[in-house]
Amino acid sequence: MHNAIKEILISQTEIQNKIRELGKQITRDYKDKSPVLISILKGGVVFLADLMRQIELPLEIEFLGVESYGDSTHTSGVVQITKDCKIDLTGKDLLIIEDIIDTGLSLNYIIDLLQKKNPRSIEVCVFLDKVEARLKEVDIKYKCFDIPNKFVVGYGLDYAENYRNLPYVGMLREEIYK
Ligand code: IMP
Ligand code: MG
Repeated sequence: MHNAIKEILISQTEIQNKIRELGKQITRDYKDKSPVLISILKGGVVFLADLMRQIELPLEIEFLGVESYGDSTHTSGVVQITKDCKIDLTGKDLLIIEDIIDTGLSLNYIIDLLQKKNPRSIEVCVFLDKVEARLKEVDIKYKCFDIPNKFVVGYGLDYAENYRNLPYVGMLREEIYK
């Protein structure tokens, strides 16, 4: 275990088992379709990389870069696009791949933005859900795990851009927060 981590909340094995199961479910639900998996940078990248290899369908991937203002452990909900989608999404079945839903403000903004690109459908797939923290309701079709309202890192999630490469989800030691 990394020495900045005080506790592992979700192990690497639990993550990989859950993603295999989710991949099967998405494969069944999108049978005869060819979804576009839209990963939200940067946190959603690790989840996308694992999940896409568990989906047995023709699919495309795309990236949407967003930055939300706020300090490093809280979102403001004011989102700025840092990288827009390049491929034509008209008439496509979009599946948003996000690391975590917390207040729901970011995903709300992202869904509105993607809706303007005239897709056939939009569904949301999150790796983690902090159910208690929600300020704005978002319809979540797929999720891996519910977690308590605590700040976590690993598996794509960062604290000040660090710890995204940890293969598990954990909580940082208090002394790490500046
Ligand atoms: P929301 O707009 O409050 O739902 O925030 C979602 C975004 O905040 C995520 O995409 C993450 O980038 C970030 N975030 C929320 N909670 C955590 C956390 O516990 N660790 C790391 N990033 C988080
Ligand atoms: Mg994010």
